[in-house]
Amino acid sequence: MAPNVGTAQAQAVLSATAILRPNIETSCLQLPILQAAACLLEKLTMKMISLFFLLLSAFSPSPSTALVRPLDVGRLPALGWNSWNAFNCDINETKFLVAANKLVELGLKDVGYSYVNIDDCWQVKDKRNETTGRMIPDPDKFPDGIKGTADKIHALGLKIGIYSSAGTKTCAGYVASIGNELIDATTFADWEIDYLKYDNCNVPAEWADECDACVPDSWASHYRPIKNGTCTDKTGLCPAGYDFHKSNTAERFRIMGDALKKQNRTILYSLCEWGEANPQQWGNDTAASWRMSGDITSNWPRIVEILNENSFYLNYADFWGHPDPDMLEVGNGDLTPAETRSHFALWAAMKSPLLIGTALDTLSDANVAILKNKYLLAFNQDAVFGKPAMPYKWGTNPDWTFNATWPAEFWAGDSQAGVLVLLFNPGGETVEKFANFTEIPGVKGGEMYEVVDIWTDTKLGCFGGGVVANVGSHDTAGFLLKKGCGWKGGKRPSRFWS
Ligand code: GAL
Repeated sequence: MAPNVGTAQAQAVLSATAILRPNIETSCLQLPILQAAACLLEKLTMKMISLFFLLLSAFSPSPSTALVRPLDVGRLPALGWNSWNAFNCDINETKFLVAANKLVELGLKDVGYSYVNIDDCWQVKDKRNETTGRMIPDPDKFPDGIKGTADKIHALGLKIGIYSSAGTKTCAGYVASIGNELIDATTFADWEIDYLKYDNCNVPAEWADECDACVPDSWASHYRPIKNGTCTDKTGLCPAGYDFHKSNTAERFRIMGDALKKQNRTILYSLCEWGEANPQQWGNDTAASWRMSGDITSNWPRIVEILNENSFYLNYADFWGHPDPDMLEVGNGDLTPAETRSHFALWAAMKSPLLIGTALDTLSDANVAILKNKYLLAFNQDAVFGKPAMPYKWGTNPDWTFNATWPAEFWAGDSQAGVLVLLFNPGGETVEKFANFTEIPGVKGGEMYEVVDIWTDTKLGCFGGGVVANVGSHDTAGFLLKKGCGWKGGKRPSRFWS
């Protein structure tokens, strides 16, 4: 188990759900007597550990209070498109206009994708305007300036985002904002920017933190090796219970947040400090979302690694605050259809910001359909239920196992439409998975549910007891359980998904 506070809190909440679930021991009683005793003892021990973490979380340093902004900006995870995963620094206005027009043409705007976000490399690399002190848009890439591009994107009914860093330079080495937060925030507001992604590169020495958090992520060498969610060899870690609100990192990001708040325009604020100073403690106070890991790539093991990490932060996701497992790789690299389904379904279910990161003019119809999945988008954007789906059982691994290659497999979350259940298969073979109604939070073991397959948009009928699915390698079966199915005429668990 990862010992950091965030993990412990997430564990506590999930464990509390487990503690309250009735009949959890009935499976033990079906075993021979000695095994039944061992099984009961093990479950009792797990409950004691859960209670310990529940109590621990009650005494953790000041919990976050969400940042509430006008016009509901940041209340729900952001939906849109960002240039980085598709183009890195190779950007210009045309690429943003192609993306914006494609969002409209492909119907992605109609289902909610609204931000068109410029990532790194948009500005003149190494100087500000000598008179105004403002950043200068690269005139070759943006001949009409960022304001010109913003006008064209707004004319399509979309919003525009921009990027800077809480350091002297961005990660690609372009002019950044530390020390110039107010002037930059004012400039962005004047350009009618709607979203700021704020990165963490090139931090001056005087802003270094006094100690570090552990990010259980292979991305940065100084955290490795990671063992069971801990940074075993890392020195300089902050002591247990350290309040990261007082870290220099939190302060650097607050300064820009405060500068944005002074503008007469509401700009969604998105933190990109890779989880380095425990943003689970202060991210929700400061911004609408906060990256919790290093960068995603279009490589399946990397996606799985980030999924595993983020599954331990989900207690921090709710209206106005969202852990961000990074932008989508749908359409990139050699992800298979199954991997693409799993990536999108789990990102949506975790209430992550969903920023498409691929060239939309070459995206396949199949991938467009995944990005437009109405059940997953409705869950992600639910205006009444802010909490994400969470693992209700790990599956192959014991519950609460931190495993970068084999994350939790059984997920569920409540929504206006019903309970969303995802059965994820991290393995290399097709497996049969059983979603047992007695195990799913918010679902009653003795009742019947109408089951809808979220991928085929098919009503499968009334099910009692549970549903069984054949799930291919790296794929995710997904269904909605809706109340209101009569018992009479209902089916018993049966195979429905393959
Ligand atoms: C990284 C960030 C990426 C991208 C890149 C630009 O720090 O995590 O998402 O913005 O910088 O240089």
